Amino acid sequence: GMPSYVKIVEVGPRDGLQNEKNMVPTSVKIELIHRLISSGLSVVEATSFVSPKWVPQLADAKDVVEAVKNIEGARLPVLTPNLKGFEAAVAAGAKEIAVFASASESFSKANINCTIEESLARYRDVVNASKKLNIPVRGYVSCVVGCPVEGAISPSKVAYVAKQLHEMGCMEISLGDTIGIGTPGTVVPMLEAVMEVVPVEKLAVHFHDTYGQSLPNILVSLQMGISVVDTSVAGLGGCPYAKGASGNVATEDVVYMLNGLGIKTNVDLRKVLQTGDFICKYLGRQSGSKVAVAYKM
Ligand code: HMG
Ligand code: MG
Repeated sequence: GMPSYVKIVEVGPRDGLQNEKNMVPTSVKIELIHRLISSGLSVVEATSFVSPKWVPQLADAKDVVEAVKNIEGARLPVLTPNLKGFEAAVAAGAKEIAVFASASESFSKANINCTIEESLARYRDVVNASKKLNIPVRGYVSCVVGCPVEGAISPSKVAYVAKQLHEMGCMEISLGDTIGIGTPGTVVPMLEAVMEVVPVEKLAVHFHDTYGQSLPNILVSLQMGISVVDTSVAGLGGCPYAKGASGNVATEDVVYMLNGLGIKTNVDLRKVLQTGDFICKYLGRQSGSKVAVAYKM
């Protein structure tokens, strides 16, 4: 049945901003994180310790983490693609990290410049290092229903990568529809395959909203017992290595739907709307949240 509580993982400061062409000042990123936490979000993915040549927007990762690391009441994971990133994240004060693999060989090459197997070997090193410091690791699988290069991805490939991440010790596996092409028709068989190898309590879903399918995809995921959902305030975002991919499903829209279903989130919709307004005004852009647009009418 449906969960009574859903944990929302806010990825706006990372997934939402990573694709922004114009540099967003560090102070704006820090204020965004503060406002998201004040809205009741208990997990806010803060930034990435990746190559600044690959993702220039997040080159200030160290400064962001140093400014927010002591905030109480929220977890602030950061992305790390390898040991170099892991060590920099820990040195800055990160207490939680995420590694990111792909179910598509082509996307793995485009995003992290290595094969799936090479990435899993790297992540085993990162997870082993994190175990020594008691740092929890989340594992992402990208392209869980489709890849910008290869097209459809088979559920068995997704299950394989998810199982590897689970077995190496990732505490949560987030299944990413990176390019937002999935529908309940493709998402359900994918989740069925993954749930055969990873316990449902450890799964999260991460939908980009390119084709407007996120809410139905989230609804079927909840019906299958998943209770962790990734979202981005104002629907910010897009992946730099997945051309045309739009942002994550908007936090506001997911909270609105969950409120309607009577599912608890502890998130204050009004405050998230104000936070979305803050970052959209800064970026000079209309919100990607339908709820935010409706509330303004
Ligand atoms: P590479 O070029 O193969 O790396 O990049 P390398 O090991 O050959 O090193 C090349 C240079 O990068 C060296 O510097 C390294 O020191 C440096 P140089 O000697 O040339 O001056 N370097 C680093 N610098 C800072 N931090 C590091 C780091 N590692 C090496 N951690 C690498 C490989 C993985 C680093 C690169 O491809 C990369 O940074 N990729 C990140 C791409 C990314 O962030 N993508 C977006 C996030 S994933 C996503 O959005 C999907 C998700 O949302 C789920 C979904 O939607 O499906 C999670
Ligand atoms: Mg993403």
